[in-house]
Amino acid sequence: MRQTLIVANWKMYKTLAEAEEFMERFTGEIAGVSGIETVICAPFISLARLSVLMERTTLLLGAQNMHWQKEGAFTGEISPLMLRDLGIKYVIIGHSERRLHFNESNLLIKRKVASAFNFGLIPILCVGENWEQHSSQETEKVIKEQLFSALEGFTLENEFMTKMVLAYEPVWAIGTGTAARGEEANAVAGFMRSLLQEKWGGISEKVRILYGGSVNADNITEFTGKEDLDGALVGGSSLNVETFAGLLKAVFNERRA
Ligand code: PGA
Repeated sequence: MRQTLIVANWKMYKTLAEAEEFMERFTGEIAGVSGIETVICAPFISLARLSVLMERTTLLLGAQNMHWQKEGAFTGEISPLMLRDLGIKYVIIGHSERRLHFNESNLLIKRKVASAFNFGLIPILCVGENWEQHSSQETEKVIKEQLFSALEGFTLENEFMTKMVLAYEPVWAIGTGTAARGEEANAVAGFMRSLLQEKWGGISEKVRILYGGSVNADNITEFTGKEDLDGALVGGSSLNVETFAGLLKAVFNERRA
């Protein structure tokens, strides 16, 4: 059984004071919710403080990016060692905004995934096609290329292969208010499992696959109720306490029904 995973991606939102304010109210707001692994991927500057505020909660902390080296002369970067030192468990890698605005290539993404494995961080590896590729039925081709190049050379001996998380995030659905349909996202997740099966056999049933792109409290159960999807990566709807708590409650209530 794969545990449901909901990941908040705060992107470049929230000052430290705003992050603290969120956390103080959020934990009370979700007091009745259990059984859903919930991760908050906050901006770097808030991580140290949030790790303290989240100590006695079941929430987990994640980063949105990292450098692949342990340390070095890389002005402006944050290393996996620094993240691990804070008790951070997850790190988003290869988000389309980083591919697009910061020119992250498949090779760079592969280095970051390898580094996350080496430092005991769980990568949340994002893949997804843009609108043009979607319209010309290239989704599977794009996903295959992104997935295989990011994971090239890794073997099952690496325990993190089964722990890693994949996120199907169609670029056209991110921040647009137009989510993919549940069946559509589930079909792509199924395809991703078949790719894992092809290269790494048994892990295909163990790896969790999320959907991301305009997920909110009203549509979340379209994704969590599907065979090949195990949760969601949530941007805009994770920024507000009530909205994000509402989303978690919707998942919780669906599972009890
Ligand atoms: P969104 O972002 O929920 O605001 O569409 C999702 C993401 O970028 O991970």
